[in-house]
Amino acid sequence: MIKNKSTIKTNQELDNEEIALSVKNISKIYKKNNKDYVALEDVSFDVRKGEIFGVVGESGSGKSTLAKQITRLETPNNGQIIVNNRDITNLKGREIRNIYKDIQMVFQDPIGSFDPRLTIGKSIDELLKNNKVPKEMRRKKTIELLELVGLDEQYIDKYPREMSGGQCQRAAIAKALSTEPSILICDEITSALDVSIQGQVISLLKKLREHNKMTYLFVCHDLALVELICDNIIVLNKGNIVESGDAKEIINNPMHPYTKLLVSSIFPISDEKWSIPDIVTDEVENNNCCKFYNRCKLRSDNCKNTKPQLKNVGKNHFVKCHNI
Ligand SMILES: Nc1ncnc2c1ncn2[C@@H]1O[C@H](COP(=O)(O)OP(=O)(O)OP(=O)(O)O)[C@@H](O)[C@H]1O
Ligand SMILES: [Mg+2]
Repeated sequence: MIKNKSTIKTNQELDNEEIALSVKNISKIYKKNNKDYVALEDVSFDVRKGEIFGVVGESGSGKSTLAKQITRLETPNNGQIIVNNRDITNLKGREIRNIYKDIQMVFQDPIGSFDPRLTIGKSIDELLKNNKVPKEMRRKKTIELLELVGLDEQYIDKYPREMSGGQCQRAAIAKALSTEPSILICDEITSALDVSIQGQVISLLKKLREHNKMTYLFVCHDLALVELICDNIIVLNKGNIVESGDAKEIINNPMHPYTKLLVSSIFPISDEKWSIPDIVTDEVENNNCCKFYNRCKLRSDNCKNTKPQLKNVGKNHFVKCHNI
């Protein structure tokens, strides 16, 4: 049945059982040169079950930091991470290992996902063993997983160094899928791949979404790809969400000056309305200052002294800017 458009909920209107991942007011502070550096500031969003949710932003904007908090490789300073209605923010040790049945991650550097001393088959076998899959079933299951990502049986005996980046990336996805997670966090998984291999990986993600209702958090630089495959996105600038909502709407009609800058660097823009901010100053920021102030053409005094809040600017489109 095709849903009437007016009955389709935005992610802000979802019921708890429709939400796979809920990130609530997450902050992460690192020490940099002995000073506190806010890598994520009060980041909140919901991801619905079965969606591909994009995270975009410049290098250093906090995308991988976000992925590391969600997968509990790190612990956030503030906020909550809720996976399938379970708060995982303060879990420790063995409890954290248990969440990896539900949530798995694949990173940009696929070779780094494997122990170089183990064959691909052995790496996957270890994970299956940890998940109590009986010995006699593990080889068959490993072959099935490799076939799912388009690698035949011979790859079971290969070491990561004997494989190309694309093959290794697909093997990393196979390994992540071995625990049958419901959520897969993908951090720039296609950026090291040829376009044709990239296409294969994307088809695979879509296939798994259709068959297993997998949910994805898809961190990606490539806005054309994000527009093509993501349902909703957030745009990060210096650890802050500046724009969020429907992926196609935001990429075709970016409103925040920072998002316009990101989009215009990918797609050629001729229209006046896309005019790009082009100033950079070194003014000292106070805590309330908009994080884009120093680069923004639209800025006013208000931007310096009052934190902007996300506001609704259309059906499923939110922007954090005083001047929009
Ligand atoms: N362990 C750490 N200690 C100190 N600073 C860190 C640490 N990890 C990340 N940072 C800083 O946090 C900021 C965000 O980094 P992050 O890796 O999340 O960016 P990113 O958006 O993933 O960038 P890229 O697109 O280049 O992968 C950067 O300024 C980075 O230097
Ligand atoms: Mg990163």
